[in-house]
Amino acid sequence: MDFNEDTKRVLKGFEEERSRTGPPEGFPKFPVIPGERYTDSKFLELETKNLWQKSWVYACHKDELPEKGSYFVWDKLQVPIVIVNSGDDNIKAYYNTCRHRGAPVVTEKTGKARLLVCTYHGWSYDLDGNLINLRDPRDFVDLDKSCQNLIEVSCDCLGNWIFINLDPDAEPLKDYLGILGEHMQQFQPEKLRHVHSKSYAVNSNVKVLLDAFLEVYHVPSIHQKTVSRFIDIDGTYINLWPNGHSRMVTPHRDPDWKDPGADGLTEIETVSEIPKHQNASYSFFPNLVTPPSATGIPFLAFWPTSDDTCEIDVHWFSPDWGDGDLPKVWERRIENFENILFEDTQFAPAIQESVSSPGFKGVLLNYQERRIYHWHEELDKKIGHNKMSQDYSIPRVLEPFVEK
Ligand code: FES
Ligand SMILES: [Fe+2]
Repeated sequence: MDFNEDTKRVLKGFEEERSRTGPPEGFPKFPVIPGERYTDSKFLELETKNLWQKSWVYACHKDELPEKGSYFVWDKLQVPIVIVNSGDDNIKAYYNTCRHRGAPVVTEKTGKARLLVCTYHGWSYDLDGNLINLRDPRDFVDLDKSCQNLIEVSCDCLGNWIFINLDPDAEPLKDYLGILGEHMQQFQPEKLRHVHSKSYAVNSNVKVLLDAFLEVYHVPSIHQKTVSRFIDIDGTYINLWPNGHSRMVTPHRDPDWKDPGADGLTEIETVSEIPKHQNASYSFFPNLVTPPSATGIPFLAFWPTSDDTCEIDVHWFSPDWGDGDLPKVWERRIENFENILFEDTQFAPAIQESVSSPGFKGVLLNYQERRIYHWHEELDKKIGHNKMSQDYSIPRVLEPFVEK
């Protein structure tokens, strides 16, 4: 990945965006996105099966599994999963489901174990998921122990970040992320430390909220007194990448801008000019948005909790701050971020009410909001046009604008 080239391209992109008088030549008019995609239970069922249960999603950080035997129960997709440090830097994930009659093999949210022992009838599994002991084996006719290991879940890492995919045939995470994964290397994800995680519940379909984090068209209005004072959305430069991923970079009004909230914090030396001096935001399809900087990286992960409710998890990561406590400025930094987050989420519940009202005729997007359409095109690709009601699918129009 040539970051000098990337910097040049983005800076040129800022100028082009600022001077344009409309979308570029040949850019399509977006078909309206039907509101039923946010409300219809049949559509959302297809979405669960083909998107949520078949995508790489962020689960946790290696700091949350510090030693051999450390485990972490993860249930963000309403399926009980246990992620385990099985030693020698290996991370494994299993359904937290005993092969005997389905009781959990760990019952605490986190902990450390030498063996995963189901406390219902005492079956025990090693950290590699092998069934090693069960009570009264003589009473099971023809039991082949080797066929009763814990069922593994696809698990892969980008540095210290652990991702899960419920699809047993998932492609490697690196291939799935493509250019996005290359971009993330500059943040040295293998050295980042976990700082903080917190969840926020929101009363809307998860996509209402996700859409809000894929554009900056809203910045001059809802962030008028905050973000808008620092960034200039007229210059926003966007990359649409394969598999639904994307990046959006918005120039700072002041070219020498420095985050006052990050004063005195260690910088990751390998971070290139763009995320260092501008406002870059990456979207990992389907549900992770991150505006990383050289001094810290927040992950916003979005999860459906029902058809019309969702949750945002905010995770913060930092370059190594050495021995001792986390620098004090982090408290302020996290609080400031939370305030912006509340600005971003404020309309979601009302929008959710609107999408099921006769007053809503669909989502009407403009050129600046093209990452949202790109996201929805990928959703349709995952579901398959032939599987959903034609009324709810959206035509593919962005293909020529996706960088390979
Ligand atoms: S359900 Fe686990 S031992 Fe019976
Ligand atoms: Fe925002």
